[in-house]
Amino acid sequence: MSGTNEALWLLDSGGRFEVRSSVRPTPATGEVVIGVRAVAVNPVDAITGPLRRLVTPWVRFPTVLGSDVAGVVSAVGPGVTRFAVGDRVVGFAAGQERLRNSPEEGGFQRYVTVLERVCAELPDAVTFEQAAVLPLGVSTAAAGLYEKDQLALPLPTSSPVARREVVIVWGGSTSVGSNAVQLARASGFSVIATAGRRNHDYVRSLGAEAVFDYADRDVDQQIVEALAGRHLAGTLAIGSGALGHALRIVRRTIGSKRIASAYPDPLTRIRSVMARTRGIRISSIWGGTPVQTEVGPAIFRDYLPAALAGGGFRPAPEPRVTGAGLQHIPDALATLRAGVSAAKIVVTIPAESRDQ
Ligand SMILES: NC(=O)c1ccc[n+]([C@@H]2O[C@H](COP(=O)([O-])OP(=O)(O)OC[C@H]3O[C@@H](n4cnc5c(N)ncnc54)[C@H](OP(=O)(O)O)[C@@H]3O)[C@@H](O)[C@H]2O)c1
Repeated sequence: MSGTNEALWLLDSGGRFEVRSSVRPTPATGEVVIGVRAVAVNPVDAITGPLRRLVTPWVRFPTVLGSDVAGVVSAVGPGVTRFAVGDRVVGFAAGQERLRNSPEEGGFQRYVTVLERVCAELPDAVTFEQAAVLPLGVSTAAAGLYEKDQLALPLPTSSPVARREVVIVWGGSTSVGSNAVQLARASGFSVIATAGRRNHDYVRSLGAEAVFDYADRDVDQQIVEALAGRHLAGTLAIGSGALGHALRIVRRTIGSKRIASAYPDPLTRIRSVMARTRGIRISSIWGGTPVQTEVGPAIFRDYLPAALAGGGFRPAPEPRVTGAGLQHIPDALATLRAGVSAAKIVVTIPAESRDQ
C-alpha cells in the first residue's frame, strides 16, 4: 500500500527519541497493517541504559518500541481470513520479539504491521483507549498460565467449568495481574491475589475470591490460612519480591508446586535450582512467547473477541490517557517510570483527515 507513515524512533539505549516519516508498510502473508488510534506503554518500553541490552540484546538502534496497539485495519496480507480493511482491532505489535526484531512491527507508529494470529476484533462498546491496555498484559498473563513450560493450565473459555483448585496471582492489580486474574477465572479456577489495600475491591471486581495486602508482614501466613487445605493449580509471581513470597507459600501448601515468575531477577536461576531439590519448579515468563505458540491464537482469536463482546472479559486496568500524538509517548514513559497503580498509561494517535 502506498502513502506515508510516521514512527517514533528510539535512537539509542539512552532513551533519545525522534519522530520520522517513512513509507507505509505492505503486509506479508499472515500480517495485517493497523492504522493505530491508541497505544499503551509498558515497563519494557521504559527501560534505558545497560538494562536494555540485557533484556532485549537482539534489538539494534534506531528502532521502534511499543507492543500495545488498537486501531483500524488498513491493509491485509495474503492468507488473512479473519480481518478486512476497516475492522476495529487490538493487536500485539511484536517488533521487539527476538524472532521478529523489526521496526516495522513496533507499535509506536501510525501504521504498524501485526501478525493476524495475535490480533483480535473489537466490539463497538470497547474504545481504542480501553483496548490498548490489553496486548502485552494479556499475553504475559497467558504465557504464565498456559504455556507448556509455565503453569500449563487449561485454556480459558466463555463458559468455564468450575474447578476446585486455586491459582495465586501475586500482584493482582498490575497490568499483567489484572489480566491473569480474569484469565484464571475463565479457565475455571478460584483466584487468591495480592494488591495494595486501595486496590482490593478492584481486584475482587475482576474475579478474585480474596485479596491480601502484599505489604503486610504476615501476608504469606494469611494466604496459607486462606487456602485452608485446598489444592493449588499454580502460582503467578508478578512484581518485585513476588518470587520469595511465592516460594514460602508453595512450600507450605498442597497441590501444584509450579511458580511462573514475571519478574526474573539475577537470583532467579539460583533460586530455581535450589527450589527443585524441594520439588518446586520455577519458570521465567517471557510475555511475547504466545506470538509464536498456539497460546497466541487461543487467546487473541478463540477467546478474547467473544469474551470482550459478551462482557465476560474486561480491558483492565483502566486507561489513563496522557497525550495525543506520537510525540507524547516519551512523557508517557516518564509517567510510567514514576509509578502507576491499577492504571495503564495510554497515548491516543489522532487519525489524519485522509484516514477518516
Ligand atoms: N516477563 C515479561 O515478559 C514481562 C512482561 C510484562 C511485564 N513484566 C513485569 O511484570 C511486572 C508487572 O508489569 P505491569 O506492566 O503489569 O506493571 P504495572 O501495571 O505498571 O504495575 C503497577 C502495579 O504494581 C503493583 N506493585 C508495586 N509493587 C508491588 C509488589 N512488590 N508486589 C506486587 N505488586 C506490586 C502496584 O500495586 P498497588 O498499586 O496495588 O500497590 C501497581 O498497581 C513488572 O515487573 C514488569 O517488568 C514482565
